[in-house]
Amino acid sequence: MGAHERDLGKTVVYQIYIKSFCDSDGDGTGDLRGITSKLDYLAYLGVDYVWITPFFPSPQRDNGYDISDYCAVDPVFGTMDDFDELVAEARRRGIGIMLDMVLCHTSSEHVWFQRALAGDERYRSYYILRDGRGSTGPGDPGEPPTNWQSAFGGSMWEWEPRLGKWYLHMHDVTQPDLNWDNPEVRAELAQVVRFWRDRGVAGFRFDVVSLISKPEVFEDAGPEGGRSLIADGPHVHEYLQELVREAGIDGMLTVGEMAATTLENCVRYTNPASHELGMVFSFHHLKVDYLNGKKWALQDPDIARLRELFATWQERMQEGHGWSALFWNNHDQPRAVTRFGGREGVGEAGGSWELAAKMLGVCAHLMQGTPYIFQGEEIGMVNAGYASIDDYRDVESHNAYRALVEAGSTPAEALHVVGERSRDNGRTPMQWTDAPGAGFTAGEPWLAIPASSVLVNVAAEKGRPGSILEFYRELVRLRHELGVIADGRVRFIDPGVGAPRAIMFERWLESEAAREAAEAGAPVRLLTVCSFDEGASSVDLPDAWCSAEQLIGNYGDVRQCGGTLALRPFEAQVLWTR
Ligand code: GLC
Repeated sequence: MGAHERDLGKTVVYQIYIKSFCDSDGDGTGDLRGITSKLDYLAYLGVDYVWITPFFPSPQRDNGYDISDYCAVDPVFGTMDDFDELVAEARRRGIGIMLDMVLCHTSSEHVWFQRALAGDERYRSYYILRDGRGSTGPGDPGEPPTNWQSAFGGSMWEWEPRLGKWYLHMHDVTQPDLNWDNPEVRAELAQVVRFWRDRGVAGFRFDVVSLISKPEVFEDAGPEGGRSLIADGPHVHEYLQELVREAGIDGMLTVGEMAATTLENCVRYTNPASHELGMVFSFHHLKVDYLNGKKWALQDPDIARLRELFATWQERMQEGHGWSALFWNNHDQPRAVTRFGGREGVGEAGGSWELAAKMLGVCAHLMQGTPYIFQGEEIGMVNAGYASIDDYRDVESHNAYRALVEAGSTPAEALHVVGERSRDNGRTPMQWTDAPGAGFTAGEPWLAIPASSVLVNVAAEKGRPGSILEFYRELVRLRHELGVIADGRVRFIDPGVGAPRAIMFERWLESEAAREAAEAGAPVRLLTVCSFDEGASSVDLPDAWCSAEQLIGNYGDVRQCGGTLALRPFEAQVLWTR
């Protein structure tokens, strides 16, 4: 059976950033037992799977994405018994647990790298080691082998005297890349995945898995950077197929994080006939506010570009029988509600904050694919808003701050940019209550709790009609219940000149499925309109939609007249017909 015939369309996933979700023992860091204590909340929201970010032993240079032992639990997050209990308790509530497999690199403290440093040939061949450019012989580093820049700033190469070579690290210097061309490495990693599968895990997310197959020849990169040269490399599809086969996970829920990928490759990664992945995260839509493609240079979101990206990716993934993960937020992104305009009236009913949060929810949850909700998104959590660079913890944010100041920004300007773009915006503790620890911890949180927690929290929204949380519950319910959302086809429509900041698309069922839905009185066709405009606008309404009713929207009513739909600020409308 093909990946997206396995009810992927009916599935909703919730992402937990374990460090910041719920701290059960008061040490300021979230943990496995904290997650178990919130399973009833997740069942209330209605999600089917929970993806938990890495909780394996790690020096935490990159918050657990630097793993020193793949098959154990870091004591800061609990024990293997805690993990088994979480899996069992989640299963009792119909929730599957998904783990994060960081298989592109290890921590430099992993025993494999330590053995390589000690001179063990077998383990030296686990990593990517090269001589320097212009080196005159052993002991002379020369220059880095290529000009590639790491994701967190600085060269992708580090000279290591104990290796007598430069080693490749696409991320932090403590994250050496693994050599996937070595069959022994691939066998070890398949074993890791199998280990967790056998412990009752229901699915996997594969970290930066588009980067595992390095090019045959290492050449300097042009302006597109080393990452694009490495992405979707020559053996990536073959290695993924092998991993899925050897780990025995074909048919499980899987998602690949596809850094710097292309649409053609994403079709291939997820077409069921390839036996690679269930779905992919791609990131092009989260770069529409990067000035000249640069993360640390600000511009307002380019909504025309966003529309074009969604239209192209949705329609072409559909044509190629691929499948997308639908998302606005994760632990690497600033909060979408802040980013796309929801800055007014935070914590109150009716301002741009609440409208934009719901509109973004509609936009993602009504498209074709599998929606992901990142912790706190369902209550409208906003960017951190820290007043000092010392409040930030992320290695990337500190590197960027330093680089901005070195390039001539004032500290205040640099802090502003980091405030908009830092990954810590998505990593602040989950806001459960308005108490000082936000109900997240009884101790000192590892990352400061944003001031907004007194206004935006689960306690304030749970059970309150009209809250963002209740709206998200409704979105989840609709996906579970309506075939047209789960399985319908998708087509984007030009909203016309009256609404330059709107996104509009149709979903519909065909043949037998359409007949069945119609007979049951359920929607056969949907029209979704999302306005990213803080002002009023209006779209031309195709005739068929002129008298259609609302399925869900962030304003109670619909303003249709003649052939137009009047849109209020950040309005989201889903109309339906038989
Ligand atoms: C992914 C993770 C990110 C991490 C990086 C390196 O992008 O989501 O948090 O820093 O991979 O592992």
